[in-house]
Amino acid sequence: MQTLVVDHPLVTHKLTVLRDRETGSPTFRKLADELVTLLAYEATRDIRVEPVDIHTPVAATTGVRLASPLPLVVPILRAGLGMLDGMMRLLPTAEVGFLGMVRNEETLEATTYAERLPADLSGRQCYVLDPMLATGGTLAAAIDFLVQRGADHITAVCLLAAPEGVAALETALAHIDVPVTIVTAAVDEQLNEKGYIVPGLGDAGDRLYGVA
Ligand code: URA
Repeated sequence: MQTLVVDHPLVTHKLTVLRDRETGSPTFRKLADELVTLLAYEATRDIRVEPVDIHTPVAATTGVRLASPLPLVVPILRAGLGMLDGMMRLLPTAEVGFLGMVRNEETLEATTYAERLPADLSGRQCYVLDPMLATGGTLAAAIDFLVQRGADHITAVCLLAAPEGVAALETALAHIDVPVTIVTAAVDEQLNEKGYIVPGLGDAGDRLYGVA
């Protein structure tokens, strides 16, 4: 597993405003959207393309287009939805699948309560959207799910990550034989006892949608 922290002043600037508790939901949604687009630029560096012949108004030339099968973008409900538009801005022809994951408070295991994905993901590059990589449980379960369906290349886009979550994900995915990259704006200091990222930005879902 590879972790890529996108080092760019605009990323840090937008993340700073997202972190600020004085930032209300409308601004938070807008900045999260913009930040995801910046992260998406880095997250798609390995996107598969194929050659294509075209004619400019002046001459024939060659270029590239997205390879088939088209990439699949998978927001994890609920907070991942707030990242979808920002990602699709750069990948308007990608397909979108949905995963609803919930953590069982007794076993602490993440289980899938809803899914709307192609049955066969063979040969697919998948872009998973989950704003906060905290304990890593949800993302590990989501990635496992996609790999079982046949996905052969996975990139998770997260606004923020905790070092504990990155380490847990690394362990949880050790058995997986598929390249996984985490792209994030920052790896913060730690998780607190309630599972929040510190300094973090609070509850991403609540800050996006204004309700608990
Ligand atoms: N989920 C969030 O929304 N925030 C955190 O800090 C951790 C998990």
